Amino acid sequence: MKAHRRALLAALAGIVTAPRARAHDPHAERRRELLQTIERQIRQFAPDIGRSRLAPCVARAIGSVPRHRFVPPQWSELAYANRPLPIGHGQTISQPFIVALMTDLIEPQPSHRVLEVGTGSGYQAAVLAECVAQVYTIEILPALAERARALLAELGYRNVETRLGDGYAGWPQAAPFDGIVVTAAPDHVPPALIEQLAPGGRMVIPVGAQASGQDLLVIRKQADGRTVTQRTIPVRFVPLVRDGAAPR
Ligand SMILES: C[S@@+](CC[C@H](N)C(=O)[O-])C[C@H]1O[C@@H](n2cnc3c(N)ncnc32)[C@H](O)[C@@H]1O
Repeated sequence: MKAHRRALLAALAGIVTAPRARAHDPHAERRRELLQTIERQIRQFAPDIGRSRLAPCVARAIGSVPRHRFVPPQWSELAYANRPLPIGHGQTISQPFIVALMTDLIEPQPSHRVLEVGTGSGYQAAVLAECVAQVYTIEILPALAERARALLAELGYRNVETRLGDGYAGWPQAAPFDGIVVTAAPDHVPPALIEQLAPGGRMVIPVGAQASGQDLLVIRKQADGRTVTQRTIPVRFVPLVRDGAAPR
């Protein structure tokens, strides 16, 4: 094909495809703005969290996961606001800053296998799935577990396995995990989760009483099995409940 004919065809293809490409994702700009807001907040908390920017894969995940699909339709206008939102059954989808921070704090790698306790909407699981090989996520409320399972499958997250159950006991059959992210607050660190953390692995977990709020802890398991705990920032999560007990 002559060069000028190729150029003409390419130009025509551009005319046909460019408007579709532009109209493709109406939420992309709002995700970019959300990412900038989160990066500012990360810099603000740098002395407490030990980092001043997000790892590239975490930033990419925040910039690409469609949070508007994980919030109930009546809240979709606020899907890219940096705030938690109700998802029904007395539960919430966490603030995007917290999702980004918790993902970053486990220092995710492409080969990692990660456990999440508290699937909720499934958004945190999707963000994790953008950064690691395999995500296992467990939710205690049947309606939320089923909704998240269906949505993650619809969105094509084939590296997320969901389960209905009490995450206090972890997921022994899939352990050990390189990372564990707990998105509901117990008043102590569940011993099973420490056991299921691989040597070199990191767990991020909000721990403390409901009335006073919690501290977000990073627990690193050393090669000899001992753990080192770092306190980061104060947070407020819904309680980790046990064995199907109704959330308080
Ligand atoms: C703050 S919400 C989680 C937000 C979620 N990660 C997201 O991205 O939407 C906490 C979730 O933990 C769940 N949960 C509470 N106790 C649990 C337990 N023992 N095991 C598993 N899930 C639990 C709640 O039902 C709720 O859905």
